[in-house]
This record gives sequence, structure tokens and C-alpha cells, in this order.
Amino acid sequence: MSKKFDVVVLGDTNPDLILTSRDIVPEFGQVEKWIDDAELTIGGSACIFAAGAAKLGLKTAYIGKVGDDDFGRFMRDQLSAKGIDVSGLVIDPSIKTGLGISLSTGNDRAILTYGGSIPLLNYQDIDFDIIAAGRHLHSGSFYLLDSLRPEMAQVYQRAKALGLSTSIDTNYDPKEVWEQNQIMGVLAHTDIFLPNTTELEKISGKTDLESAKKFFTGSSDLLLAVKNGDAGALAFQRDQHYAAESIQVSPVDTTGAGDSFDAGFIFGYLSGFSIEKSLRIGCVCGALSTQGLGGTAAQASQSDLKKYGVL
Ligand SMILES: Nc1ncnc2c1ncn2[C@@H]1O[C@H](COP(=O)(O)OP(=O)(O)OP(=O)(O)O)[C@@H](O)[C@H]1O
Ligand SMILES: [Mg+2]
Repeated sequence: MSKKFDVVVLGDTNPDLILTSRDIVPEFGQVEKWIDDAELTIGGSACIFAAGAAKLGLKTAYIGKVGDDDFGRFMRDQLSAKGIDVSGLVIDPSIKTGLGISLSTGNDRAILTYGGSIPLLNYQDIDFDIIAAGRHLHSGSFYLLDSLRPEMAQVYQRAKALGLSTSIDTNYDPKEVWEQNQIMGVLAHTDIFLPNTTELEKISGKTDLESAKKFFTGSSDLLLAVKNGDAGALAFQRDQHYAAESIQVSPVDTTGAGDSFDAGFIFGYLSGFSIEKSLRIGCVCGALSTQGLGGTAAQASQSDLKKYGVL
């Protein structure tokens, strides 16, 4: 049975303006300073995931919401140029597209985010015909999607009823509330949960990895894949555990490493590879993504995976 899309992605849609400078600190009082570089790139966790999936050759569709403005058009054009189907990207003339601004020094970043359209994506915006045409549903930035979050469990339940496998990377909750009931409602209809170690502990309310892992995998078949920066990644399912080390790189900009890992892991899962092999692919995808400015400039292709011996 062949479906139109391998993966349907839904979530936060915004450009990132990446400003780079080795040692410049912005200063109020109208102080003007030169910086080294500026680049407008695809931002938004879900969009970076979609770009990573498409780069690996997955047929990818994107569902989100932007305003009828330059940033919105930039996102539609950039996603489309990467071969991603954007027919599910809603354009709402009454709102403004969100924007991320990142001042990057190479090893650290200061980030300012204007939410705009990001928290306004809602259940009515979602075209379930597009979801029905996919094998797999993934979403990013659960905690930024204020309007959709209370109904995300319903989205995942419908996707499962339509025969899709499902995954979620919540990313961080800037309000640090973690909405445990809401996320547990989603995870009841989720096959793969992709937090980093901090998010795993915060969402579970546990302070150690062992208890946090048990909290999610103790009574279900949920596959938990946990990202751990330059220490690599771990996975847990029932009483099984798996691990992969990261590859050694000197990061230029770590924006989107987690989303690129997710794309690699889901590529492995949809290819029917083992959990170990999918973790290794995820780690190469995460590490390579740090080699360029922004989340998508240096994402891995299948030939990169072959070069690193993981495909
Ligand atoms: N400095 C690094 N060196 C090598 N690999 C890295 C590095 N940083 C990230 N990675 C790879 O990318 C994966 C995901 O990165 P990370 O653990 O930072 O995810 P995250 O916290 O979800 O990131 P994000 O900030 O994008 O949400 C890691 O598991 C690792 O494989
Ligand atoms: Mg993350």
C-alpha cells in the first residue's frame, strides 16, 4: 500500500534571523555595533524536522499557519523549494508570522522569539485529508502551540485511527508548566516520543533518568528516544534499552540539532531499521546539522549517512 506522503509534519512555522559575532554583546542606549554575519533561515522545530526528513528522501507534507506577509511567504517558498508539500500551510491575513532572532557566538546563543502565528495554529486549521495521505505524523514544539495543545490528543487519536504511526518532540516549555495531563493524553496515541534529557525529567516530574524513563515506558509500548547533546542518544522500550554515541564535530551553530536527530531517527523507523541503527542515524544527522548556520543548511542526506557508515 503506497501512500502519497511518508511523513506529515505539523507545528511551529517561522523564519530564524541568525546573527553571528564572536564577542559582541548588544547594548541599550542606542549603541551601534558591527557583527560578522546575518542570515534569514528556516526556523521552527517542526519546519527544521520537515526539511531534514525531505533531505533524507522522505516524501514530506507540512501543516502549519503563517500570516500573509514576507516572513510567511519566505517560509512557504523555502519549504516548497526543499520539495515539501505546503498545501496544508494555512495563510491567515489577519495575523503576523512569528520570528526567531538568534545572536550566536559559536558556542553560545541569545534568542529572542516573537510568537505571532505560532500559538495561533488551531484544530480547524488541520487538513485531515493530508494526514490521511501519510504513513507517519510528527509534531514539534507542543509547548508553543497554545491554541492546538488542548486538542493535540484528538489530532493524534484521529491519526492513529487513520492508520498512521506517530511521533512527537515537545521541545522545551518556556513557561515551565509542562502540562503533564495534556502531554500524557497525546502520548497515549503516540508510538515514538523524542525529548532531550532535560525535557524527559521536567515532563515526568522525576529528577533522575531511570525513574523518568520508567514513568513513560513502565506500562506501555511507547518507544522513548532521548537526545543527550554531544553524549549521543538513548532509547527505551518496555524493559529494553539502547544507546548510540555522538560523532565528534566542532559545532558552528547547534540550532536544530534535536530536530535533525528526530528526522534521522524517524527515517530509520520508517525504513524498518533496528532501534540501534535508527539511533546511530539520528546521531549523525544531529551532529552534521551543527556544521552550518541555522537548522537546515548542513542537514544530512543519505549519501552523508553512507559516508559515516550508518546506512
Ligand atoms: N556538540 C555536538 N557534537 C556531536 N553531536 C551533537 C552535538 N550536539 C548535538 N549533537 C547530536 O544531535 C543530537 C540532538 O542534539 P541535542 O541533544 O542538543 O537535542 P535537543 O536538546 O533536542 O536540541 P534542540 O536544541 O535542537 O531542540 C544529539 O543526540 C547528538 O547526536
Ligand atoms: Mg529539542
